[in-house]
Amino acid sequence: MSSDLRELAAVYERDGWCELPYSFTPAAVGLLNDRVAVISQETRPEVVWEKGKKIVRAIHGCHRFDEVSAALTRHPRLVALAEMFLGGPVYVYQFKVNLKQAREGAAWPWHQDYSFWQREDGMPRPDAVNFAIPLDAVHEGNGPLIVIPGSHRLGPQDEYGDGDGAPGSDWRRHVSADLAYAITPERAGKLTSELGTQLITGPAGGIHAFHPSIVHSSTGNGSADRRALLLITYNAVRNSPPHPTRPEFLVDRNTTPIVPREDHRLELTAR
Ligand code: SIN
Ligand code: MN
Repeated sequence: MSSDLRELAAVYERDGWCELPYSFTPAAVGLLNDRVAVISQETRPEVVWEKGKKIVRAIHGCHRFDEVSAALTRHPRLVALAEMFLGGPVYVYQFKVNLKQAREGAAWPWHQDYSFWQREDGMPRPDAVNFAIPLDAVHEGNGPLIVIPGSHRLGPQDEYGDGDGAPGSDWRRHVSADLAYAITPERAGKLTSELGTQLITGPAGGIHAFHPSIVHSSTGNGSADRRALLLITYNAVRNSPPHPTRPEFLVDRNTTPIVPREDHRLELTAR
């Protein structure tokens, strides 16, 4: 491993998030946006609307039915980085695009992803990693991801933190603004005053990694600019949940190690 990558892994371990030194080209982002536009028009359970509105909030599991999304998950650089963070072979646990439409996209309350994956799916350990790739420029006003650096080391922070949980909740409450495992504003306020916050902003095509246990949220989009965020979760093959029950578009059952493959349409450049 190069010293740059070793440093990146150390930052990720310390802070629970980091910016990767690569960016997808505008052509690659354009192609992904074309696919998002097509999938968003489809009527299928993977396409989720904002509450009470016919406005697409998110699309899920696209790597299972869309060949461009599948090609993205096989990108050799992404796979190598995921393997580096997780220390072994990986597969795609989850794939989604949160669209946060201009003036309409609702918030994501403070939460930890691992609360859902452990309690709903039985993921043994938080040995997964999220890669977030914006398909639009993200600025302070269009609802960027907000993370609390270092919070991934504190264990469960939500209401069900004593481990008795509420598994079996409706999966729609895992993808809506009314999250099943949210962290109270009081608890989040305490964490932000102790650890601070970091807004994840930047141009379309950038890549950030964040940990399954990091506390994060994002506000509604009151701006005139859409904020589409593509999220790939790679899980370590050794960490696959034995008996998941949620829909396959939220928890992929194919846990065989992903085979990297170059695709000239999805070019990545060093920043
Ligand atoms: C967001 O799209 O702003 C939230 C994403 C997440 O919670 O993983
Ligand atoms: Mn999340």
